[in-house]
Amino acid sequence: MDPRCYLLLLVIASGAVLGNGYNLKSATFLSPGFVLGPGSVENRFYTSIDFPTGHIGIKSFDAEVVDEAGNSIPLHETYLHHWVLARYQASKSNNRSHTVVRNSGICQGDTLGQYYGLGSETRKTPTQVPDPYGIEVGNPAEIPQGYEEKWLLNIHAIDTRGVVDRLGCTECLCELYNVTKDESLRSDYKGGLHCCVDHTQCRVKEGFQAVRRSLYLRYTVKWVDWDSEILPVKIFIFDVTDTGERQVGSSTAEGQGNGCKVEYDVEPCNAHGWCVDVKRTNVVLPTTGYVVYGVAHQHTGGIGSTLYGKDGQVVCNSVPMYGTGDEPGNEAGYIVGMSTCYPEPGSLKLTAGEELVLESNYSSTNTRGHTGVMGLFYLMVADQAPPPPISLLHHSVSVFDGSSEWTWTILSLLGLAVVAVAVGFSIWLKKRRETEDGYHVIMA
Ligand SMILES: *[C@@H]1O[C@H](CO)[C@@H](O)[C@H](O)[C@H]1NC(C)=O
Ligand SMILES: *[C@@H]1O[C@H](CO)[C@@H](O)[C@H](O)[C@H]1NC(C)=O
Ligand SMILES: *[C@@H]1O[C@H](CO)[C@@H](O)[C@H](O)[C@H]1NC(C)=O
Repeated sequence: MDPRCYLLLLVIASGAVLGNGYNLKSATFLSPGFVLGPGSVENRFYTSIDFPTGHIGIKSFDAEVVDEAGNSIPLHETYLHHWVLARYQASKSNNRSHTVVRNSGICQGDTLGQYYGLGSETRKTPTQVPDPYGIEVGNPAEIPQGYEEKWLLNIHAIDTRGVVDRLGCTECLCELYNVTKDESLRSDYKGGLHCCVDHTQCRVKEGFQAVRRSLYLRYTVKWVDWDSEILPVKIFIFDVTDTGERQVGSSTAEGQGNGCKVEYDVEPCNAHGWCVDVKRTNVVLPTTGYVVYGVAHQHTGGIGSTLYGKDGQVVCNSVPMYGTGDEPGNEAGYIVGMSTCYPEPGSLKLTAGEELVLESNYSSTNTRGHTGVMGLFYLMVADQAPPPPISLLHHSVSVFDGSSEWTWTILSLLGLAVVAVAVGFSIWLKKRRETEDGYHVIMA
């Protein structure tokens, strides 16, 4: 057998062996349908959505908008303003009794308590939790008697087919929507979430016609059954608009998260040339831990966001990727992905109370600025670093980029050993056969 076949078999076999520890499961679901016509808006909360059950570690959550036939819908037709996945516990006997189980921070109240949430960038933003980590959910010990864990999906989508001003509709400019601003809004509120609420209508070009159609969020969850080898991660979401009441310089998280406004405006810049709007806020992490994953969320106009640690060291820099074409996942002018950070597991430690700075940059070069933009930063943090690799194999770990399991290294080394033996054996066989053939020749 060709030695490469041995190697292939070994890779498959080691995958199967590894599977016992990390048996990655995957399921794809459709959200309940929502119907959109030109200019219309749906911002709905779907409770009790399809989701894997049991005590599991979530490994990724990816989503996109599709139509009834399962076709991907481009952002210039249906703009996915955001989707949010939240966890809650519901009473089995009383369908009105439920409690949201928030992530580990930072914002207070009902704000930003989700486990996952993205917007237009969803198709090209990695969401994987690297091994040996997972988002632990469904732990029976944490679910009160008579309750069960469920999941809620909030989907906010805007149909921009035939609208008079596509960017204006996606930025929820109040003047384009048929809303009557309620008194709670500032008189200078020009645009944002409060103007594109559920069942509002963005202005469409005179005479434009297109069918109303049913759309769905198609989402794929990957997970593993929970076991003691998996290390749990905590989820923190920082918001650049969080000015809170926390005293700058105080090392506690107290008072932080009271000021999360989620969205903000970028004022236009009248200067000639390129203008950048820089927004910063001081934040702290309430716990000490290792950064596992980081990603920012920005809207059109965003040019990057960075979380800085002490002494200005970069914890994570996340930049938007803009589309350049027409097809789903690459729509010109839209943010179709955000870059993510996966520090070497265990290498990047943040301390509770350490002064962090969140920075969110937008281009303000256009003439009207932007309304309702966001500057969120999503961070997964683990209490524990992964177990150290066996010292003998330490060198090989770096060869495998550190992101792989050390098990892989052992298995690969074993594999190489077996391949070496196999190659040796086949050479020996070949030699022997040649020798035998030689004898034949002589004897003939
Ligand atoms: C809750 O249960 C009652 C009685 O079974 C039912 O009439 C009602 O529609 C339910 N409400 C929701 C929100 O499911
Ligand atoms: C806005 O338009 C939609 C769609 O025509 C309509 O259902 C809704 O009632 C309107 N809202 C207001 C406040 O006029
Ligand atoms: C934001 O802009 C400032 C000023 O131009 C620059 O120093 C900083 O590096 C930028 N940060 C990001 C994340 O782009």
